[in-house]
Amino acid sequence: MKFYNVDVEEREVLGSYTLLHYRWQGSVEPGRFVMARTAGYPTTLDPFLARPFSLYDHDGEMASLLFEVRGRGTALLDLAPTIEVTAPLGKGFRIEPALGRAALLGGGIGVAPLKILGRHLDARGVPYDVFLGFANAGSAVVAREFPGARVATMDGSAGIRGTVLDTVDTLRDYGALYACGPNPMLAAVKLAAGEDALCQLSVEERMGCGNGSCNGCVVPVHGGGYIRSCVEGPVFPAEVLAW
Ligand SMILES: Cc1cc2nc3c(=O)[nH]c(=O)nc-3n(C[C@H](O)[C@H](O)[C@H](O)COP(=O)(O)OP(=O)(O)OC[C@H]3O[C@@H](n4cnc5c(N)ncnc54)[C@H](O)[C@@H]3O)c2cc1C
Ligand code: FES
Repeated sequence: MKFYNVDVEEREVLGSYTLLHYRWQGSVEPGRFVMARTAGYPTTLDPFLARPFSLYDHDGEMASLLFEVRGRGTALLDLAPTIEVTAPLGKGFRIEPALGRAALLGGGIGVAPLKILGRHLDARGVPYDVFLGFANAGSAVVAREFPGARVATMDGSAGIRGTVLDTVDTLRDYGALYACGPNPMLAAVKLAAGEDALCQLSVEERMGCGNGSCNGCVVPVHGGGYIRSCVEGPVFPAEVLAW
């Protein structure tokens, strides 16, 4: 897998999250991800494995990643002046153009792929509503990047108290649903959407290689067995997943 050395052009703090910008000329489809690590490999081997991140946005020149510091990999990314990223990987959201209004649902850092998805929906003239759920007001700061979004926090410190689904009256009137977040949230969205919904779910399984060779990122599928979320996903039609 090829890594590109890119300078961090700008870093913004958005509450508990960091938004990091770098120059990227290639095309970026919503829902795809990059493997990223601090520059210096293999001299440093720290971290040994690159980490997966959704592309947050791309305006044709600058790409951005939105992330939360969780451990060593993200702590280093939060400080490094130069990082290494792959080209966009995996299968992203398929935009359903003529199905009426869409709903975009994000849980926690699962908000990350929704910004660029909104950009692509705007370009296709597809109207949409955004529903976001966070742990608390610190992580909900990023909601200001989504004007008009309905927001919930688990502790009630911003928006309404509850989960992202508590911000929605019904999902059944939407022509298409796009969601990203932890698996329990995605399973709840799938249930609320109903069997006939055109619903796409972006999973955040832990990844080792990001290129299909380690089987570390598998998800269970209907009919038995597993598929790799780094190459067959991370976005899947809801009916494919066995939750
Ligand atoms: C396709 C995809 C897209 C992603 N997009 C983003 C994104 O846009 N922004 C972002 O902040 N994160 C995203 N993630 C999650 C991100 O990859 C992890 O947070 C990151 O790898 C943590 O690395 P670390 O070295 O800082 O933490 P580690 O030291 O590896 O782990 C620290 C803690 O975080 C937990 N953890 C690590 N990875 C995950 C995970 N995937 N899910 C749940 N818990 C985890 C570990 O269990 C541990 O408790 C994405 C994951 C996938 C698979
Ligand atoms: S992360 Fe290695 S197969 Fe998907």
